[in-house]
Amino acid sequence: MLPSLEGARVLDLGCGFGAFARWAREMGAVTVLGVDRSENMLARARGQTRDPAVRYVLADIEQLALPEAAFDLVYSSLTLHYIADVAAACATIRRLLVAGGRLVFSVEHPIFTAPRTPGWRTEADGARVWPVNDYLLEARRVTEWITPGVVKYHRTVASYVNSLIAEGFHLVRLEEWGPSQEQIAQHPEWADEVHRPPFLLVAARL
Ligand SMILES: C[S@@+](CC[C@H](N)C(=O)[O-])C[C@H]1O[C@@H](n2cnc3c(N)ncnc32)[C@H](O)[C@@H]1O
Repeated sequence: MLPSLEGARVLDLGCGFGAFARWAREMGAVTVLGVDRSENMLARARGQTRDPAVRYVLADIEQLALPEAAFDLVYSSLTLHYIADVAAACATIRRLLVAGGRLVFSVEHPIFTAPRTPGWRTEADGARVWPVNDYLLEARRVTEWITPGVVKYHRTVASYVNSLIAEGFHLVRLEEWGPSQEQIAQHPEWADEVHRPPFLLVAARL
């Protein structure tokens, strides 16, 4: 879903340990700026490269102070569901991109962030179902993931897409990722992921 990175100036929002930034350089990006609001994540990222064209900086995506029209690609992996106002984030990203610039991001799929009845329910015939409730109720959700009290923002697929359209983005591709049968054969623990897509992936351009 990514464009060619040859010669690209790349911004990675919510870079975490910074693997994408380092990979983007290998793919030909001229500069990569990774931002994250976690100093712990950034410390790990910085410890893994000495490349002066890769920088990792502490910043909150919701309060970015970066030069306008300075990036060819904004990338964000599994971070925008932690952002309260995705419409404002799309407006910021639009300002940071050059004309014709690309945005490629993934989020936890809204079916996944919608409230669920805890645990699996087993039907009489043995089929497992994963109930999804209140999909249309967009809200802050406090969940347990590795640690209790993790805050995510549930919003619909339409909200993501319409936030992009409102800023003049054109959709290039949208994927609801799930494992293929070949991948399930290699990773049997992924079999449950076919019941609902865990990830939504979007590529857009200005
Ligand atoms: C699930 S991790 C993904 C990390 C990396 N993109 C990856 O795919 O491996 C989410 C990252 O987003 C960062 N993050 C969450 N909210 C943020 C915000 N408002 N501003 C900047 N970073 C944020 C977290 O600190 C964390 O490193």
